[in-house]
Amino acid sequence: MAEKRIGVLTGGGDCPGLNPVLVGVVRKSLALDYEVTGILKGWLGMIENVTTPLTRNKVSGILPRGGTILRTSRTNPYNDPKHVQKIKANFRVLGLDALIAVGGDDTLGVAHRLYKEEGLATVGVPKTIDNDLSGTDRTFGFDTAINIAADAIDRLHTTAESHNRVLVIELMGRHAGWITLYAGLAGGADVILIPEVQMRVEEVCRIITERHARGRDFSIVAVSEGADLGEGMVLQEKKRDAFGHVRLGGIGEHLAQEIERRTGFETRFVVLGHLQRGGTPSAYDRYLGLRFGMTAVELVEQGNFGTMVSLRGNEFVPIPLEEAVSRPRTVDPKLYEAMKVFFG
Ligand code: F6P
Repeated sequence: MAEKRIGVLTGGGDCPGLNPVLVGVVRKSLALDYEVTGILKGWLGMIENVTTPLTRNKVSGILPRGGTILRTSRTNPYNDPKHVQKIKANFRVLGLDALIAVGGDDTLGVAHRLYKEEGLATVGVPKTIDNDLSGTDRTFGFDTAINIAADAIDRLHTTAESHNRVLVIELMGRHAGWITLYAGLAGGADVILIPEVQMRVEEVCRIITERHARGRDFSIVAVSEGADLGEGMVLQEKKRDAFGHVRLGGIGEHLAQEIERRTGFETRFVVLGHLQRGGTPSAYDRYLGLRFGMTAVELVEQGNFGTMVSLRGNEFVPIPLEEAVSRPRTVDPKLYEAMKVFFG
């Protein structure tokens, strides 16, 4: 009989590095003589008791694979009190000593409530390409996303320059501008727009017009899906998901139309969308995933529940889940203002 049985689930949007986390969880567990039960499809799997044993062979060879072998969903058990009771019951039925939840603020918010309100032994791992979780210097998935986005911007440069065009690229990140700021800077975008700091279309056009007047008659504009143009959020649809989020999207097209209308420069737009979350994780995200996963098991060993593994400098340390989900971590406007030196 194993010393302990640990459950692990991946919830919310998929993210490069989820599979390396599973490798970290399983390999550290085996070293401690623990068994690992994989819960399928995020919190839905805990509600419906759909699981798979995670053995050493199951996680062999998955390090470079994007997505999650456990599948995922945006299920919020707190939308139905019966679902919370089912999770409690299945925790017992499965004989779990602890549950590791790998997710962003939504998934970890549920883990926090299950610990605080139901007394379940949960530990969190910070996942999201958006990099918007409090209490950790980084979430895994962000590095891969900014590399994909910066590569896309590099590729847009050739068309922009050859055709004397303005190219607008819309990037993800929800209400945080980390992806757009980092990828925009790395890709040499001429204007970067993020949700945290308002920039009106007039100002975007002014920067581009001045640049073209200097003889650089093409431009790249990187815009976050949630950027603030002072005109309200641009939505793909108003319908909210299980955690109350609207679907952002469409600001790239709107901005491109306005730039062309106001400046007369030929303008095109690209929405990078889920390409930012797809494919193989970067080496750094694989490393982060392994370390986050194995540290989560160490927290289980110590009985340190209601916590999330956080990266502080080069150290992997526990912080209360409550702190991680208290508020989103967004870009400091002062940092953004300082980076304007690279605009135009
Ligand atoms: O949180 C990750 C993220 O990719 C956001 O950047 C984006 O707004 C959202 O998920 C998209 O969600 P979905 O895949 O459900 O459309």
